[in-house]
Amino acid sequence: MLETWLTRELGLTVPIIGAPMGGRAGGVLAGAVSAAGGLGMLGAARYTTPEWIAAESAVAREAGGGRFGIGLQTWSLPENPAMVDAAIDQRPTVIALSFGDPDGYAQRICEAGIPTMSQVNSVQDMRLAEQAGIDVIVAQGTEAGGHTGHVATLPLLQEILDATDLPVLAAGGIATGRGLAAVLAAGAQGALIGTALLASPEAVGPDYAVPRLLAARSIDTVYTPVFDQARHQPWPQRWFGRALTNDFTAKFHDAGGDEDTIAAAYDGADPDVGVVYAGQAAGLVNAERPAGEIVADIAARAEELLRRYA
Ligand SMILES: Cc1cc2nc3c(=O)[nH]c(=O)nc-3n(C[C@H](O)[C@H](O)[C@H](O)COP(=O)(O)O)c2cc1C
Repeated sequence: MLETWLTRELGLTVPIIGAPMGGRAGGVLAGAVSAAGGLGMLGAARYTTPEWIAAESAVAREAGGGRFGIGLQTWSLPENPAMVDAAIDQRPTVIALSFGDPDGYAQRICEAGIPTMSQVNSVQDMRLAEQAGIDVIVAQGTEAGGHTGHVATLPLLQEILDATDLPVLAAGGIATGRGLAAVLAAGAQGALIGTALLASPEAVGPDYAVPRLLAARSIDTVYTPVFDQARHQPWPQRWFGRALTNDFTAKFHDAGGDEDTIAAAYDGADPDVGVVYAGQAAGLVNAERPAGEIVADIAARAEELLRRYA
């Protein structure tokens, strides 16, 4: 068994967290990851609600034997502070405050006795998280699916590990045992996997998302603001989203345009236009497989590799 600070502290049997993924990670996926010995997280994106958090938490709790996490988008909390209370009310194993300064929110969650985690994209972000009292730092590289920063996972992870005494996890581009072994060997206490889980039957999303992911190679993603503009999601400009390329990105990513024009051209029901957020690990996802099997396989192969080099 791969034992790290993360497994000991959260009572896991594998050092893997199923990433919070807005629109794709609900209670069924989170529960499946937890049932496999990891920690599954709900992606409580800006467009979800306190009611969604309550309903999906119940599903995750039931399916995962009680353990699950909730991932909030920090920048959006001032317009919807009830999301923090809703997350606290569910007493999850961990709450993630990602993308933005967690000051204030982290203290409230800590007072409720719930550990906090924050995905960061630079050492500066990490310092803000440290000052806010966050318990676990996630170095999230630009390879990651969904919203992320500009620095790649390996350089960011090395920088963050050298800069903090807090436990550090890695996210972005990890989809096999090789990736997990690499970040554990570097000093991370575990990994968040997102893209690796997106072809699982437990993930939610439009019907075209899985076939498009299976067909995608690692070069078929783009780091772009166009889907936020298309869906009127007011993300701060320092975080674009990594998505699979399609007709829509071909038309608008380089050319740009005003938000109303971009939004008018968007149709989420059209497989050639609708967004499929996914990372560069898309090229490593080649079959539809249950989430629990993926988690167990990544952990087993990482252990095998690390033993070989121990
Ligand atoms: C479809 C999708 C949606 C995401 N939504 C969120 C989100 O709502 N909140 C969040 O903190 N991170 C979100 N992320 C980022 C993940 O938490 C994680 O950092 C990322 O998936 C790790 O990289 P990987 O996709 O290469 O495994 C999302 C990622 C994906 C693929």
